[in-house]
Amino acid sequence: MHRRITGKLVIATHNPGKLAEMKELLAPHGIEAVSAGELGLGEPEETGNDFRSNAAIKAIAAAQAARLPAFADDSGIVVDALDGAPGIYSARWAGPTKDFTAAMAQIERLLQERGAATPDRRTAHFVSALCVAWPDDHLEQVEARADGTLVWPPRGTAGFGYDPMFLPDGHARTFGEMTSIEKHGLPPLGLGLSHRARAFVKLAEICLEPR
Ligand code: IMP
Repeated sequence: MHRRITGKLVIATHNPGKLAEMKELLAPHGIEAVSAGELGLGEPEETGNDFRSNAAIKAIAAAQAARLPAFADDSGIVVDALDGAPGIYSARWAGPTKDFTAAMAQIERLLQERGAATPDRRTAHFVSALCVAWPDDHLEQVEARADGTLVWPPRGTAGFGYDPMFLPDGHARTFGEMTSIEKHGLPPLGLGLSHRARAFVKLAEICLEPR
């Protein structure tokens, strides 16, 4: 049986870009969101082998520490020509200073080393795994992806992370050139464009009251 989210929800992220997007996604559903940072919760080590298990590790740790339902996302970019790298290590490729200009340059250098010059050799997708954990160990989990190609040089200053390099399929502008509303592409404008918005639509179906 799926369980609905009611009342207060901890957002188990310390990433300001993701926190802002999650608050935007939750706001229309009347959920009172409080971040793990605001509650002074620590960050667990992400020891899982895939996005789904890392999202669960973060949500369970926050739910246990706060004794409240907690919501976590684990996400990243999967580059086909790099055998799926950086994948679950997408945040780590930016290093301790979170330098995504350097992380994007690293991807580009590796693509060039492999001779990946044409769009068909530069395909990639973002993945978002979402997990809601309750203090009694109940879990709800969903996952979605957004497909596209990688452009160089990066374009746009909106968004965060690898957004300026990612051109979603069927669009002429990168995520870095879109407003967050366009990037989410949520109803009534669309059915979800970004990986996080698509996963969120799935989660809303099972866990949230209709908007
Ligand atoms: P984690 O989920 O905290 O392990 O971090 C995932 C990393 O993937 C982020 O730090 C970003 O670098 C990247 N990422 C995830 N979602 C997005 C997105 O929507 N745009 C750009 N980069 C993203």
